[in-house]
Amino acid sequence: MNISLVNNKSVSPTANLIIAAYSRKEFLLHPLFKSLTMTDRAYLESALADFKWSDKDSGVFNLPSQPQRKIIILGLGEKNKWHKRKMFLTIRKVVSMLKNHRLAGATINSADFFIKATSPTETLSLIAQNILLADFTFNDYKEKPKNGWPEIKEISIVGRPSKQLQRALDEGIIIGQATNDCRYLSNMPGGLMTPQKLAQEAINIGKTIKAVKVNVLHEKEIKKLGMGGVIGVSQGSIEKPEFIIMEYSSAKARKNNREHPLIFVGKGVTFDTGGLNLKSTNGIYEMHMDMSGGAAVIHAIEAIAKLKLPIRVIGIIPAVENMPSGSSYHPGDLLKTITGKTIEVLNTDAEGRIILADALGYAQKYKPSLMIDLATLTGAVVVALGQRMSGLFANQTNLLKLGQNIGDRTGDFVWPLPLWDEYEEEIRGTFGDVANDHKTNYGGAIIGAIFLKQFVGNFPWMHLDISPTMTTIDGQFLAKGAAGAGVRFLVEIARGHG
Ligand code: BES
Ligand code: MN
Ligand code: ZN
Repeated sequence: MNISLVNNKSVSPTANLIIAAYSRKEFLLHPLFKSLTMTDRAYLESALADFKWSDKDSGVFNLPSQPQRKIIILGLGEKNKWHKRKMFLTIRKVVSMLKNHRLAGATINSADFFIKATSPTETLSLIAQNILLADFTFNDYKEKPKNGWPEIKEISIVGRPSKQLQRALDEGIIIGQATNDCRYLSNMPGGLMTPQKLAQEAINIGKTIKAVKVNVLHEKEIKKLGMGGVIGVSQGSIEKPEFIIMEYSSAKARKNNREHPLIFVGKGVTFDTGGLNLKSTNGIYEMHMDMSGGAAVIHAIEAIAKLKLPIRVIGIIPAVENMPSGSSYHPGDLLKTITGKTIEVLNTDAEGRIILADALGYAQKYKPSLMIDLATLTGAVVVALGQRMSGLFANQTNLLKLGQNIGDRTGDFVWPLPLWDEYEEEIRGTFGDVANDHKTNYGGAIIGAIFLKQFVGNFPWMHLDISPTMTTIDGQFLAKGAAGAGVRFLVEIARGHG
């Protein structure tokens, strides 16, 4: 799909139009409405006599003079109740309507979607991102219908073309595309997306973007470095573990020899059966997406490199498959991590935190200015928050605020949860230093987070438990499957991290 920025005056006289307005009055003043001929305007005015203009109302109209041409009208509801989440939904709804009607293109008006306190450039970037997110499908493994999949070729956005706006549009396209590429990886079934394949994705990015260096550590090196957690979790599978390290450094960051990089760590469990503590039929469903954090890190770094942000950032993805077998790790095993701390395995299904312990421990050697890990870590956080935002934890309160702001700005929503020291008592090991599970059924998301905290040292750190937002949900106007959580968040953090 091509998304372009056009001038008010250069709207094609045959283009399908998207007109969104709060009221009839605003509709009549709408520049795209005013671009129509008098007879077409008169026709629409009468056709819309009963239109309600609530944010649920929409309609597709044919112009009698040009039957091929479609005019899509959307209500935006009350003006003082308009907000960003509605804006995201409206844009995605437009895309889904275009697809449902098999329209190859349309012209939209950027000003329809403006939000108070959001700049035109940011708005345009968000429009582009959400167009792309709504356009994404995962159809590679399905037979094509006779008339093909619906395909939108061109969306023109009316604005006042300028260098800044064009740049914002280009940025939005990079970010939206990276999020979709992340969704693609997460959607790939577990049999196809193995640790090796995930590593290959990172390697491919390193090959196409010069500023990205990729280094993949294999089993032998992982063992040699003392990452007993990664080795332990992976040993039940015939798929060997991979420890993926990506580094992007801008020319400027290289010159300034930035010593304290930004670090992203992503959980890369390519399939989580639960191991010997095997999951149930319901629990195992969709566990091929348990590498979503890793996929988000891979494609966030790709986007950051394409945006040429003036920073140094390192992505670390421990990639394993969690399988039960004659060689798998056992409940009760004591695994020695790279930090020297041992983990007492009480449950082989709490595997994410074990591999992340090694990854976070490894990350410390870079003396990071900030570490952020993304992981589909617990089912408990979905119970706590529902499926509209990720859980956010941090070892500094200012990072909770920062994280929530970033979430609100990007639409990659997060919500803060507590991390008091008192919780540490619940994960004290009996025979090892830290237990990977606790005795009660309460606060599982916090327990996962407090476990990770044992492995970050004193470096500033945020943990996003992205289980809630692993998949899309009904009503979001997004294809079923992976949601690509975390990509937009990480890119926005990087933009503010000069
Ligand atoms: N990958 C799962 C968590 C998960 C569940 C993510 C559902 C997305 C949707 C994780 O490895 C896991 O199994 N966690 C356990 C931890 C428990 C054994 C302490 C859980 O949440 O049940
Ligand atoms: Mn698990
Ligand atoms: Zn898992």
